[in-house]
Amino acid sequence: MAPPLRGGSILLAPPLFFLLSLGALGSQYCVPRKTFPYQDEDLRLFREEGVWNYSTMLLREEQGVLMLGAREAIYALDLHNISSKKAAVYWKVTREKQKECAYKGKQSEVECRNYIQTLHPVNQTTMYVCGTNAFSPVCDYMSYSDGQLLLHGRQEEGKGKCPFDPFQRYSSLMVGSDLYSATFINFLGSEPVVLRSSQTAVRTEFKSSWLNEPTFVYMDHIPESVDSADGDDDKVYLFFSEKAMEYDFYSKLTVSRVARVCKEDMGGQRTLQRKWTSFVKARLDCSLPEPSLPPIVQDVFLLKDHNWRRSVFYAVFTPQSGSSRLSAVCAFSVTAVREVFNEGKFKTPVAVETSHVKWVMHSGELPVPRPGACINNAARRLGMGNSLDLPDKTLQFIRDRPLMDEAVRPLTGRPLLVTRGPALTRIVVDSVRALDGKEYAVMFIGTENGFIQKAVNYEGEMFVIEETQVYEDPQPITTLRLSSTKGHVYAGSTSGVVQMPVSNCGRQRSCSDCVLARDPYCAWDLPTARCASLGSGRSAAVQSLVEGDTSKCPQPEPVPVIEVTLVPGNNLQLPCSAASNLAQVHWLLSDRPLGAGPRYYQYPGGLLLLNASGPDAGRYVCRSVERARGGTHNRTLAVYLLAPGLGGPGGAGKGQEGEAPVDKAVANSTAGPDIPGATAAKGPGPAEPGGPETQTDGGRVAGLRVAVGVLALLCLALTAALLWKVKREPLLRLLPWGGPRESKAKTPVTEYAQVQNHAASEGKTAGEAPGSPCLGNNHHSGVDFKGNGPPHFTSMRDISCLDGLGYINDESEI
Ligand SMILES: *[C@@H]1O[C@H](CO)[C@@H](O)[C@H](O)[C@H]1NC(C)=O
Ligand SMILES: *[C@@H]1O[C@H](CO)[C@@H](O)[C@H](O)[C@H]1NC(C)=O
Ligand SMILES: *[C@@H]1O[C@H](CO)[C@@H](O)[C@H](O)[C@H]1NC(C)=O
Ligand SMILES: *[C@@H]1O[C@H](CO)[C@@H](O)[C@H](O)[C@H]1NC(C)=O
Ligand SMILES: *[C@@H]1O[C@H](CO)[C@@H](O)[C@H](O)[C@H]1NC(C)=O
Ligand SMILES: *[C@@H]1O[C@H](CO)[C@@H](O)[C@H](O)[C@H]1NC(C)=O
Repeated sequence: MAPPLRGGSILLAPPLFFLLSLGALGSQYCVPRKTFPYQDEDLRLFREEGVWNYSTMLLREEQGVLMLGAREAIYALDLHNISSKKAAVYWKVTREKQKECAYKGKQSEVECRNYIQTLHPVNQTTMYVCGTNAFSPVCDYMSYSDGQLLLHGRQEEGKGKCPFDPFQRYSSLMVGSDLYSATFINFLGSEPVVLRSSQTAVRTEFKSSWLNEPTFVYMDHIPESVDSADGDDDKVYLFFSEKAMEYDFYSKLTVSRVARVCKEDMGGQRTLQRKWTSFVKARLDCSLPEPSLPPIVQDVFLLKDHNWRRSVFYAVFTPQSGSSRLSAVCAFSVTAVREVFNEGKFKTPVAVETSHVKWVMHSGELPVPRPGACINNAARRLGMGNSLDLPDKTLQFIRDRPLMDEAVRPLTGRPLLVTRGPALTRIVVDSVRALDGKEYAVMFIGTENGFIQKAVNYEGEMFVIEETQVYEDPQPITTLRLSSTKGHVYAGSTSGVVQMPVSNCGRQRSCSDCVLARDPYCAWDLPTARCASLGSGRSAAVQSLVEGDTSKCPQPEPVPVIEVTLVPGNNLQLPCSAASNLAQVHWLLSDRPLGAGPRYYQYPGGLLLLNASGPDAGRYVCRSVERARGGTHNRTLAVYLLAPGLGGPGGAGKGQEGEAPVDKAVANSTAGPDIPGATAAKGPGPAEPGGPETQTDGGRVAGLRVAVGVLALLCLALTAALLWKVKREPLLRLLPWGGPRESKAKTPVTEYAQVQNHAASEGKTAGEAPGSPCLGNNHHSGVDFKGNGPPHFTSMRDISCLDGLGYINDESEI
């Protein structure tokens, strides 16, 4: 892993400096409050034996089906339960086509297949569908009626509508009966095009100033003619990234762009014949809170408002250099994008020296009508009824200068969300009316390792409500769709599609947990004492989204005291774990903070007391502290009363070579739902990281899913190697006392990084490197072992990186 690009900035030419963002984001959550590992009972899955690449989805809510395009297959799935397949149609590539494709040097079994890439509605029963067809794209009509999917067999030319290469990103959109597509139009994938296939087909000029090695991401339509005072036209917006032409740099820099065209554009008469007269583009700005090159747009979602002026684009960005593990979401208002295009200055090329061209702001007069503008009332008054009437001056200007000088700034001036760890891949956004009557934009964001994060930005504060693992085997989420009306999110990947409810309020089991979740879909219903989704006519419910204020919650039931017999010489485990990744757990002994003695070990599942003795008797209280804007929420999770006795209840393993047995304080259901850890030996649930399970083993406590990682931020490279070990050795053993490791035993408990006991930490996470503590996340001091994927190690004060690595090596040798 490359070191952070700090020294590198010296190499940058001056115009680049402003691209390097140094935003300081005060307090931000980048750790999801809760992590829900894979649980198939909450999800519905669809996959079919032998079929891969479930990459294209079309929601047909009125027909109650999700149309799903995969490799050589199209399905109609029940929107309520995608496991239920209503119809399927298979569209295989012919043997000749496959041979021909392989002959041209493509991989026969991978690339020379028919990947369904385009799926658009035409009318109530008919859709337009295109596939790559072994590097020879074709399109067809397909109908779904009477529970039957039928391809019409029209075999229309698919060039320019659908990519040749199934691995290439593309985007397309149906507006009325016109198909807009952004893809590559040739076999080699070297000629990009933004095309409207219609009566009068219009496309982009093949010039690098228009599109320069682009990666197309997203397209959508805004009905800007509606309520337009100046008779404006509807627009189609396109999001993509491309090699920048406007910066001097030792290598080509990639930038994110938004471009747009006018719906009624028919091209020019002499200049720009059958080419867009309205293609303009601008840079998208989304600054990461670390010095970095401009991040790359990966996906966009348009959150539509019935007043199109209030619609907002939400975009996911990831860094372009591999050294950073940050991802961000920025929102761009349609109005801001429009303003840049309608009123901003253009960039213009100037020749410096002989062959070198620099792009600078154009400060001269603009031709009339304004280049790139749609035909509006002002143009009509000049006698120009459509783009064919536009004067050459206007057209030549825009042909040579499609780039705006100004970048489009995000809605709030900075990202709505920044996360560190597995890269974010896809986004959908739901607008949810909460109990306070306000609308909140809830973001569902897919990750590269098969999770969906649910996040909200509360008045500038980033908050990840939860993350849910939707694929058992980590894999990137490549498609994400939302059905707001049905309340489901659909996530596609190469191996299948998963349906997840937008909320699962019942998973929050106490009022404070429900309120601290700050989930706009959920509130604590007082009459039924349940965390429930906001239905109609909820009489008395508690919700505090912005503040996370739990003061309206009823007093929790006092936690039952669990009596534990203390047997001198035994090891004792007191289960207790917080329900939230953002909470910190503290132990009190007889009302005083438990000292960090060599015999106390705090791990995610509770407290371990080694070699108990008489003076250890007392009242142990496990408390969690969780901060929200509305204040600190303290809560007692468990109380144990240790009293001396003669015979312990445990005693297992006493026969083994005289090592200390471990007693487990096991509480049963009477302990109440607020002591997750105390319902001992349950499977690894979301709130029970490191499910307690102990046994004795040669003087060590084995089976505790506790890894000792001693790492510092400076040692990122070494950490990668180390994590590899952690992944393969989920049962790392803790040897905190005795022998040569005496010195380690003296370090305070909070200095042990610990690995969470869920699938993601057991080596199934795709391509992970270590997460780091969140920037400015003051809720996460000390041990930080939770969240999606790899453990987030906090920096360890006393121990050097090499020390730690050596120690781990020791462990894996056991
Ligand atoms: C969903 O559909 C599958 C397949 O038809 C069926 O086995 C399952 O029971 C359904 N689930 C629900 C909740 O209806
Ligand atoms: C839908 O469009 C298809 C293809 O254009 C056409 O054949 C069919 O008649 C149309 N159906 C309806 C109900 O309009
Ligand atoms: C299709 O899925 C297979 C199996 O997961 C994967 O190896 C391949 O890369 C996928 N192809 C594309 C174009 O994503
Ligand atoms: C346990 O503690 C006793 C004294 O309290 C001590 O004598 C004994 O050596 C300890 N055992 C271990 C394994 O540390
Ligand atoms: C909550 O606990 C923290 C740390 O134990 C303490 O500093 C704070 O005063 C407590 N707050 C309340 C309201 O009890
Ligand atoms: C839990 O405790 C209750 C009452 O103390 C007892 O009746 C029950 O058998 C216990 N259950 C288990 C599984 O230990």
